[in-house]
Amino acid sequence: VTAVTGTTDREAGGEDAPRRAPVVGMVGGGQLARMSQPPAIELGITLRVLAERADDSAAQVVPGTLIGSHTDLAALRAFAAECDVVTFDHEHVPTDHLELLEREGHPVRPGPAALVHAQDKALMRKRLAAIGMPCPLNRVVADAREVAAFAEEAGWPVVLKTPRGGYDGKCVWVVEHEAGVDVVFKEAGVEVLLGEAYVSFERELAVQVARSPLGQAVAYPVVETVQVDGVCREVLAPAPGLETGMAVAAQHAALTIAHELGVTGMLAVEMFQTSDGILVNELAMRPHNSGHWTIEGAVTSQFEQHLRAVLDLPLGSPRLVAPSAVMINILGGRRSDLTSGFVHVMAKDPELHVHLYGKSVRPGRKVGHVTLVGDDVDDLRERARDAAAHVRGDHDE
Ligand SMILES: Nc1ncnc2c1ncn2[C@@H]1O[C@H](COP(=O)(O)OP(=O)(O)OP(=O)(O)O)[C@@H](O)[C@H]1O
Ligand SMILES: [Mg+2]
Repeated sequence: VTAVTGTTDREAGGEDAPRRAPVVGMVGGGQLARMSQPPAIELGITLRVLAERADDSAAQVVPGTLIGSHTDLAALRAFAAECDVVTFDHEHVPTDHLELLEREGHPVRPGPAALVHAQDKALMRKRLAAIGMPCPLNRVVADAREVAAFAEEAGWPVVLKTPRGGYDGKCVWVVEHEAGVDVVFKEAGVEVLLGEAYVSFERELAVQVARSPLGQAVAYPVVETVQVDGVCREVLAPAPGLETGMAVAAQHAALTIAHELGVTGMLAVEMFQTSDGILVNELAMRPHNSGHWTIEGAVTSQFEQHLRAVLDLPLGSPRLVAPSAVMINILGGRRSDLTSGFVHVMAKDPELHVHLYGKSVRPGRKVGHVTLVGDDVDDLRERARDAAAHVRGDHDE
């Protein structure tokens, strides 16, 4: 375990050591940790990162990044020793490692008892049912026969998911009939899968809330998210045309989940909007793709809010600063130097905000996003789509 850049500037400690700014440690070196650095700088606090590689998205911009694996207990301990609070850019740290860090006196936020519900979809379904949250019909299944029995109740197609380790639609399969099940088990390579009824949703929504250890909580406006092949493409804030009653119900559900599960920091609740109301899809306990619009579109961005919440500081306003904000992901396309599209998109739309994550371009990989904030959601969406397509090089010869 080695520090690759800069110094850690930790004070010597002891009773008359001068007070120093708090240190937030984020496990994981992806774009979420990277986007946490600007608000840390603004607040004058120190962000530290545990990243797997020196060229990870956040490692490029956060001094003192520790290089090590999030599954290596020794690396996690060395990292926690340098931080006042440990938090996350992803949910892949083993629960028993986190329990050990907690027992050794390191504040972990969200704590492992809450985080496990964002790590394990089967556990999450069980817990949500226990607190009365509406979810798709679901059952843990071990083979094709059990899937067929479940389908008698749920109907085909059935959605199969690995309980752990999925992201961006990886480890989610839609199966049309019993004959397709064995190949999914083989590909998944796990003993059991979570089976879910296929929901013919009208659209997907997401609600973000922040909750602090003291129990203060705020809810962001409900957004519409558009997924293609399981990957988030677009986020519209607020969700256009959403009835007030449904928006309040969605925010209430997210606040209830945060409270019941004891979440600290940001919580994103992904939902399906159906003709009978809202169903909860999944949980993320960290900043989330559905909240990138908050950087320019909300009074307090999700990244600043997460820092405030894990440090148990008073939370900031989640209010939109304009009638609408639209965020569109830049997925890897045919162009490898994404900055070569800057002249075109910046000249064409001076209101555009471009974010690149410093990641090498691979097809379909999330490498950046664009945001527009303004009055008319349709106009913003069209302009943002055009800009994202230009940055990724869709119009290159
Ligand atoms: N029961 C379902 N019925 C219909 N579509 C579903 C269902 N479950 C998931 N999907 C679709 O698949 C997408 C990905 O599923 P899910 O959010 O569970 O997986 P993930 O890979 O963990 O996603 P993330 O990238 O958000 O972590 C959803 O956004 C939705 O579009
Ligand atoms: Mg999801």
